[in-house]
Amino acid sequence: MSKTRVLLVGAAGETGGSIANGLLEDGSFEVIGLVRPSSAHKPAILRLQERGVQIRKCDLKASEEQLIEALAEIDIVVSCVGPAEQQDQIPLAKAAKRVGIKRFIPCGFITPTPPGGVMWLRDEVRTLPFPLTGPGTKHFPPPQKEIVYNQIRQIWLPYTLIDVGWWYQLSYPRLPSGRVDYAMTSGNDEIIGEGNVPTALTDLRDIGRFVALIIKDPRTLNKKVLAYNLVSTQNKIYDLMEEISEEKIDRNYVPEETINSRVLAARQASETYPFDPIKFIPRYLAEYQYSWGIRGDNNPEYAKYLGYHLTSDLYPDFKPTDFREYLESVIRGTAKGIYQDRTISRKHQRHFPRTESSDSLYTRIFPRTESSESLMSR
Ligand SMILES: NC(=O)c1ccc[n+]([C@@H]2O[C@H](COP(=O)([O-])OP(=O)(O)OC[C@H]3O[C@@H](n4cnc5c(N)ncnc54)[C@H](OP(=O)(O)O)[C@@H]3O)[C@@H](O)[C@H]2O)c1
Repeated sequence: MSKTRVLLVGAAGETGGSIANGLLEDGSFEVIGLVRPSSAHKPAILRLQERGVQIRKCDLKASEEQLIEALAEIDIVVSCVGPAEQQDQIPLAKAAKRVGIKRFIPCGFITPTPPGGVMWLRDEVRTLPFPLTGPGTKHFPPPQKEIVYNQIRQIWLPYTLIDVGWWYQLSYPRLPSGRVDYAMTSGNDEIIGEGNVPTALTDLRDIGRFVALIIKDPRTLNKKVLAYNLVSTQNKIYDLMEEISEEKIDRNYVPEETINSRVLAARQASETYPFDPIKFIPRYLAEYQYSWGIRGDNNPEYAKYLGYHLTSDLYPDFKPTDFREYLESVIRGTAKGIYQDRTISRKHQRHFPRTESSDSLYTRIFPRTESSESLMSR
């Protein structure tokens, strides 16, 4: 039987890399990576080619004709572009409709939230300052995922929306000894609220295995799915880290009011300079903390209420990577870090003035990479 041909957009990224692995390991897919010409020589892409992934060079910003060419003989499109590139998927979706793609997976892959005022990353409408009352915002470009989903539905393109829990790789706290710093991207020294809000967790490496199951499952066509491994709380994660590491970790509880003020400050800062990563990345972080840490949105029960199917119901035999084993590997020093190759362009820095508060929020996410250090010292 011939294999299902999947065009994977963003194969060199974190989520894209997991999906490439999951599809290749599953064995029933032929994986074709759509890669920007300038990225075709990235080591991650060369490694995928060595494993049999065919590469088509094309930018999502290319002409419709070029996009149609890139979609030749493709059955399914899976897109995992970064947060800032969501709307670049719309021309691809339109081209996919024209050529009769059987299923289009736009870039979801975030924690579940309702649209409309909680997370700008998801929103279809302008996000108002926190709380959801008060003065409206000034001119503000709508960024995000729900706009893409809506476009897909308007053209009646077959789709599946896939969201995931908070990555294992971002969920654990620093240890006083510093021995897990090598694998960390975010500072993670805060417990949101009282730390007892249940939150869904997903190993980044399992996302691709879930995607392989979801995209061949007729039950998930034109549906939303939450792919997750377990539900835990921040306090439980701290307990587990202390038990495995035999180190005592300070519990730095951040009250709800502080999170709310951060959301407000980050929204105001990003609205002044919406294209500045120094401004919008802190906004993503603050709104994530608000959504999963305070509101408790990242919860399978709530996701079900929002209309998601759960992988725990769809695939009861799926064996996820064990969270404890993952943390043991982090503490042992054998885990792989994420986003280790990232830089923020100098061009952005010249265009957008920074403030002390935006810098301190920014350093919470990229506290120790060479690029952020040089950025901060500029
Ligand atoms: N649940 C969680 O805990 C969690 C954590 C982090 C991220 N996420 C979500 O996961 C999703 C994917 O994020 P990520 O961090 O995996 O992304 P990423 O690592 O930044 O990768 C993005 C990919 O998109 C490609 N791309 C960007 N613009 C493109 C264009 N115009 N044409 C073709 N390709 C383009 C990039 O290609 P190049 O190689 O050419 O740059 C890159 O390979 C996002 O929605 C994000 O919010 C969720």
